[in-house]
Amino acid sequence: MRGILLAGGTGSRLWPITQAVSKQLMPVFDKPMIYYPLSTLVMARIREIMVITTVEDQPQFQRLLGDGKQWGLSLTYGLQPRPEGIAQAFIIARDFLAGGPAALVLGDNIFHGVGLGQMLAGHNSPAGGQIFGHPVADPSAYGVVDFDPSGRVLSIEEKPARPKSRYVVPGLYFYNGDVVDIAGQLKPSDRGELEITDINQEYLRRGTLNLTLLDRGTAWLDTGTFAGLVQAGEYVRVIEERQGFKIGCVEEAAWRAGFLDDDELYALAGPLTRSGYGDYLLRLLDWKETAYLR
Ligand code: G1P
Repeated sequence: MRGILLAGGTGSRLWPITQAVSKQLMPVFDKPMIYYPLSTLVMARIREIMVITTVEDQPQFQRLLGDGKQWGLSLTYGLQPRPEGIAQAFIIARDFLAGGPAALVLGDNIFHGVGLGQMLAGHNSPAGGQIFGHPVADPSAYGVVDFDPSGRVLSIEEKPARPKSRYVVPGLYFYNGDVVDIAGQLKPSDRGELEITDINQEYLRRGTLNLTLLDRGTAWLDTGTFAGLVQAGEYVRVIEERQGFKIGCVEEAAWRAGFLDDDELYALAGPLTRSGYGDYLLRLLDWKETAYLR
């Protein structure tokens, strides 16, 4: 399965702070936002990833992430010139996906939870569409999913004024190879975007949309508003300072996935020691830390 990390958009809900720098490069405590969704893909054991950005922002992403070899990954870059919707990512990535299954993660979505990587890795060859559900206090800002007691999806609606449930669909989606053709047939919505919700509705129509509820111990954090951005940073800081384990550390995720060996992790730590980030990587090589593998 190949991965797509969508980091386009104008970030206008965070202007002026994102007027000169892409939102997905903003700090969330001790790392750039994009490290978190990138780690999510790596935890799902996905190593071939296309990073989709705007034309102006692409050089900064390339400067930060390079070709991914340093992390045992293969990163390529795609362009989304205008914010024309999440579903457009599949059209942009058509050649990269080469007809195979695809995982899409939004560059501003942060997930944290025990067993999440293993659970996600179990979905790497979906029969159709695989979405996730998570309850939130205010569902009307998201894609809302309604389901029956057996977990069968009844409806999925984008930003409904009257949500049918308080379960929403986070920005992490797994699809079989049909997704590119489905995306190609979509029409723009009223807000002028190719909607990911329309792709999910098509899988629902075909009877191949599967919903998995994220464990309530899983945190899904929003970074789309000033308050959400600070709250996400605070969440990461509290957990990291208390446990001494980092969230969204790409190097750690790649090493635990077996994409990097001990020597490679050691080499990555060197230039990062002044901030303390590198010391963390070195500490992972201690046997007492490796014993605590989850
Ligand atoms: C998008 C999707 C929505 C999903 C959300 C997750 O919303 O359209 O279905 O629940 O991402 O972050 P947008 O960011 O376009 O408001």
